[in-house]
Amino acid sequence: MLIKVKKGWEIPESKVTSEDTYLNRRSILKGMAGAGMIASIGSALPFGKAIGAETDPSASLYPVPRNDLYTHQRALTPEKIATTYNNFYEFGSHKTISEAAQALKIRPWTVKIDGMVEKEMEIGIDELLAKMPLEERIYRHRCVEAWSMVVPWSGFPLKDLVKLAAPTSGAKYVVMQTFEDKAVAPGQRQFWYPWPYTDGLTMAEATNDLTFMVTGMYGKPVPKQNGAPLRLAVPWKYGFKQVKSIVRFHFTDTRPETFWEKLLPEEYGFWANVNPEVPHRRWSQATERDIGTGERVPTLIYNGYGEFVQDLYKDMKDERLFM
Ligand code: MTE
Repeated sequence: MLIKVKKGWEIPESKVTSEDTYLNRRSILKGMAGAGMIASIGSALPFGKAIGAETDPSASLYPVPRNDLYTHQRALTPEKIATTYNNFYEFGSHKTISEAAQALKIRPWTVKIDGMVEKEMEIGIDELLAKMPLEERIYRHRCVEAWSMVVPWSGFPLKDLVKLAAPTSGAKYVVMQTFEDKAVAPGQRQFWYPWPYTDGLTMAEATNDLTFMVTGMYGKPVPKQNGAPLRLAVPWKYGFKQVKSIVRFHFTDTRPETFWEKLLPEEYGFWANVNPEVPHRRWSQATERDIGTGERVPTLIYNGYGEFVQDLYKDMKDERLFM
């Protein structure tokens, strides 16, 4: 198959707006960070009130320096929209879960690294944050439901966590798993879902430069509804791969069956790479609705990130790479 890969910078100039506003806001935040004022200024800012990040103990770490390799994007989605239009089935199967998600306790938060690694470990989120090189990246985020956002995530490359984990040579996949707590997550009382939410990547995908562990968003800690305190961002794949509120990284030689694959294998596969030419069984993937602007825009192969990732798949002709 011949695939025309559009580069990130082929996005029309008219679509790249509002970054000045954002940069202004970043420098305001940077100036105030030392004075411990971030928690109280949310509602005074042009992006509106952030829901949920105010009480996070890692607030003083943000904002972090931006990695400019990843800034060629459409208009940023307003923070208020990106933090109130969510998918997080643990808190409900609708988009307005941001209030309900505040029930999640994010400290103490322990991350387990196990399976095919030199030495299994459990590490507290703050200790992990202290070990990792934090940076900001602006990524497109494309849901399989044909909507999208452009989000300034903060976090660190997954490959740095892989280095810390020291997988053995036999490890082929890293599987990520969300917390389980029926007391705070009413969705987990719905027995027909295969909890805990789980997804995975090949080692080559996990160590690709684009693969990012999110700990922050809009220059602040990532809010609970967006997957605090640790969530995956793989922008060339549909959003359902981006596991939220991760408690475990399991290294294995066996391809995992993911949460959505267990539920609907004909609609949601392991690879889930974005491709406008491969429709979902029930709708087209040719275009997407930018939930910030309301505009419908063309979807790009690998969500516009083909230059970074297409080589990962060149010898996989028999795999269902785009579902
Ligand atoms: N992770 C968990 N644990 N539970 C979920 O329901 N939904 C996924 C993904 N990660 C989900 C999850 C889906 S379908 C999408 S599109 C994104 O999270 C949504 O991320 P957002 O709410 O930050 O936009």
